[in-house]
Amino acid sequence: MSRVLNPNLESEDNQELSLRPQKLTEYIGQEKAKEMLDVYIKAAKKRNEALDHVLLYGPPGLGKTTLATIIANELNVNIKIMSGPAIEKAGDLAAVLSTLEEGDVLFIDEIHRLPRYVEEVLYSAMEDYAIDIMVGQESQTKSIRIELPPFTLVGATTRFGDLSSPLRDRFGVVIRLDYYKIEELKDIVLRTSKVHQTTIDDVSANEIALRSRGTPRIANRIFRRVRDFADVRNEGKIDIEISKKALEMLGIDNDGLDYTDYRYLKALVVTFKGGPVGVESLAATISEEVSTIEDVYEPYLLQEGYIKRSNRGRMATEKAYDKLNIKYFKGLFD
Ligand code: ADE
Repeated sequence: MSRVLNPNLESEDNQELSLRPQKLTEYIGQEKAKEMLDVYIKAAKKRNEALDHVLLYGPPGLGKTTLATIIANELNVNIKIMSGPAIEKAGDLAAVLSTLEEGDVLFIDEIHRLPRYVEEVLYSAMEDYAIDIMVGQESQTKSIRIELPPFTLVGATTRFGDLSSPLRDRFGVVIRLDYYKIEELKDIVLRTSKVHQTTIDDVSANEIALRSRGTPRIANRIFRRVRDFADVRNEGKIDIEISKKALEMLGIDNDGLDYTDYRYLKALVVTFKGGPVGVESLAATISEEVSTIEDVYEPYLLQEGYIKRSNRGRMATEKAYDKLNIKYFKGLFD
């Protein structure tokens, strides 16, 4: 799926990794997360110990990988980056664990998608800084213990509830990331513009911020498309007209909703008469994956009050009807 509003990481976003903030003080927003990390990092350094394991959770695109990199930088240690679903065998994890040096950070993205038998290897690695691996063939197998240096696991997940409780319990620091405020997104756009050595006026930066669904990854992606328009059509100058033109071409409305959000809301309001309806039926109607709907679209629609969730399924609110210009009748039994 390629859409500007999809907060999942795409290759173009990676090019910007080197331009991301390297220190906590350069990181914009998430004040509570920064304050906690600042204290825990300083305390660990003062005691010359590895930082306790950290779990970062929240919607995609809010800066979990960036924060993990900052944690390693602030601790002056190496970071090894892995992704839960890409670790198929316990041996893949063991191979990386055995390269860690004292105090290093191991970052595992999408940690809720680790296979269970890999997750079990992590338990002892986290708790005892040791792993037990099976060696030998068939009847000759035996378990050998490999000691690891103290290290910090930073896990990231969009689905806190999908984490098994033994794994959850092994994180000493659990931090929730929230959607960013408009002012913060605006500052991020201004910062990105500066690192790209372009100029953007305040009004345009604010416009991009307003339409970015509280998500820096989306703000930065919109910024890149706006810059394309400015380079080709406006001699590189980013102003409000060129910004609005680019946003119009991207199909993003004033509230940051795009074509797929509209299809979702229309299915809910028109096809399912406002709900309640199960997410599977909605997903089938608009031909999207259930996980995409749950992780990408719904968190923002929920937070902005377009939809509600009940134990009988999703329901449209009056705001959803207004967005679609459809008259809202309050249900007889509401
Ligand atoms: N780029 C992406 N996220 C950022 C953040 N929170 N602060 C500064 N730059 C960013």
